Amino acid sequence: MATKLIEIKGLTKKFGGLVAVNDFSFHVEKGEALGLMGPNGSGKTTVFNLVMGDLKPDSGEIIFEGKDITNYPTYQRVKAGIARTYQVPRPFQELPVIEDIQMSTIPDSIMGSFRGRAMPLEKVAKIGEDVGLKEHLSMYPRELTMGDLRRVELAKALATNPKIVLLDEIFAGLTVAEIGELDTLLQQRRKKGLNFIVVSHDLKALAPLVDRVVVIHFGEFIAEGPFDKIVNDERVKAAYFG
Ligand SMILES: Nc1ncnc2c1ncn2[C@@H]1O[C@H](COP(=O)(O)OP(=O)(O)OP(=O)(O)O)[C@@H](O)[C@H]1O
Ligand SMILES: [Mg+2]
Repeated sequence: MATKLIEIKGLTKKFGGLVAVNDFSFHVEKGEALGLMGPNGSGKTTVFNLVMGDLKPDSGEIIFEGKDITNYPTYQRVKAGIARTYQVPRPFQELPVIEDIQMSTIPDSIMGSFRGRAMPLEKVAKIGEDVGLKEHLSMYPRELTMGDLRRVELAKALATNPKIVLLDEIFAGLTVAEIGELDTLLQQRRKKGLNFIVVSHDLKALAPLVDRVVVIHFGEFIAEGPFDKIVNDERVKAAYFG
């Protein structure tokens, strides 16, 4: 349907005998921010890896803006408008923040040495400043707090000019003040039309950010609906506390 930005259909991924994601389906409407919830090890990051093309599914389809992208390499998905942040920040240790962000704007990693194809540094700096990294642009990852490293992750995703960003535990390890700042920033982006899929164990930070949540447990879809309804769903409570 025309209103779906991304549709995941029957995605399955096995690691040896372990079925990490099992016939999992969900979609994100255009303009929507979706929460993806589930206990530790339920398959959330694996879903992001599959959507981004960092892993190949055993079966299933990924449809983005009506196009089947299941066999696209990662850089083509990025070009189509999908970006992600990593649960464990992955900065280039030997690059200052501004160049790390710039690297993410080079569309094909094989062409990584062709700096000419990257975004000009003035534009990169603006993206960094927009996420609160103005004072950090010339610093190295080892000099940054976890809060700042997560901002770098976000800047790297935003620098690719995405239509949707997959945010994996973007609030983990942040102070309450940092969570508040990041939440505000993401809400501003939402108002400008950016779509998100948000994975967060911090449900207080997640709740105000999402229109709807999907819950995964042992790789399987168990529930879907508005946040307030879902946290009171018996299947969800059993998955988290059972
Ligand atoms: N590359 C891999 N090889 C083998 N097993 C894996 C691999 N990646 C994930 N798994 C397993 O797949 C299952 C789902 O893991 P995944 O990281 O997707 O869960 P998650 O919901 O993101 O967990 P968390 O909340 O702890 O981040 C887990 O049992 C995990 O151990
Ligand atoms: Mg994870």
